[in-house]
Amino acid sequence: MDSANLDPALQAWAVSDADFPKDGDPESTLRFLLRYAILAPSGHNTQPWLFAVGDGAIGLYADRTRALPVVDPDDRELTISCGAALETLLVAMRHFGHRGTVWLAPDPDDEDLLARVALGDGEPPGRDEEELFGGIPRRHSNRQAFEDRDIPGVLADRLVADAEMHGAWLCLVRGDGRAAVADLVAEGDRAQMADKRFRRELAAWVHPNRSRSHDGMRGYGFGFGDLMSHGGPLAIRAFDLGKGQAAKDRELAQGSPLLAVLGTAADDPASWLRSGRALQRVLLRARTNDVWSSYLNQPIEVDALRPRLADVIGRAGQFPQLIVRLGYGVEVKPQPRRPLEAVILGAEAGGQP
Ligand SMILES: Cc1cc2nc3c(=O)[nH]c(=O)nc-3n(C[C@H](O)[C@H](O)[C@H](O)COP(=O)(O)O)c2cc1C
Repeated sequence: MDSANLDPALQAWAVSDADFPKDGDPESTLRFLLRYAILAPSGHNTQPWLFAVGDGAIGLYADRTRALPVVDPDDRELTISCGAALETLLVAMRHFGHRGTVWLAPDPDDEDLLARVALGDGEPPGRDEEELFGGIPRRHSNRQAFEDRDIPGVLADRLVADAEMHGAWLCLVRGDGRAAVADLVAEGDRAQMADKRFRRELAAWVHPNRSRSHDGMRGYGFGFGDLMSHGGPLAIRAFDLGKGQAAKDRELAQGSPLLAVLGTAADDPASWLRSGRALQRVLLRARTNDVWSSYLNQPIEVDALRPRLADVIGRAGQFPQLIVRLGYGVEVKPQPRRPLEAVILGAEAGGQP
């Protein structure tokens, strides 16, 4: 990516190996590694994370001021997003020759401190992590329809194994299950779009294509041209577009080469963080194999539909966390990221693990 021509809010995507501070102290190494972590996906691109760098470690904090109280009242997706950032950080650490040592929920008195990560011992990167690393700057959510082209079975199996590595499961939805899940997605769309509060919250995070905002989603992510991207937020706020959205998403769900539900046996912050780590492994593995990804989480976000989704996919009593569709498609533009300075807290808060 030619960083000279980049819009400041997209600069983050121009991160390069060549800028690694080879003779830097641990603090500058950790700061550099965060340039990869912030490329993780997050609900509505809220980027709900903060990092404290100090004493040779990074503290990962949930930034609950960036919560989405309507679509995500329990901070479930917020925690998943932080899990995705954590996994990205660890993959980057491995690439640059450190094993990474992680303490999860290290302070029982601070539920916002989700993890602490130190560089750990030196260790040359393995092939597996290297493959994931290559996907970090190439991964973007791609909401377009995908090509009618199968994903190789070996890759699909690999994605399942990637999710399992963090104690989550990835259920590949095939056969009749596909139509049933697509129906639930459509039902979720109708329920969400009929809710003014949901629409208002979504509209607040959808921005015109030429916006200077460093967070939220620019209209091009939804296929809006420049002009339409100006009216998009207004239309979302003012009208119940549920019927049209439901029809579109049903088709996307049914037509995706791979439709998968990622879930866990429990539904608590530790499981959400694990889900985020599993999600990012799946997305990075997919992307490095030229496969794009996107989400259809509506049946999980609407409370009444979540157990029905678990039933339909044969996981009654368990907890679906995300619905992901994967496939080959056209290149899409990245979404903005906040600058590193905006997400790093004072070093003194990092503390010793
Ligand atoms: C936990 C989580 C939930 C998400 N839910 C949705 C969703 O329901 N629909 C959607 O279109 N995108 C969803 N996304 C994608 C985000 O909108 C996207 O990651 C964000 O806008 C940043 O863009 P990027 O993924 O291209 O970097 C979700 C992402 C995460 C991590």
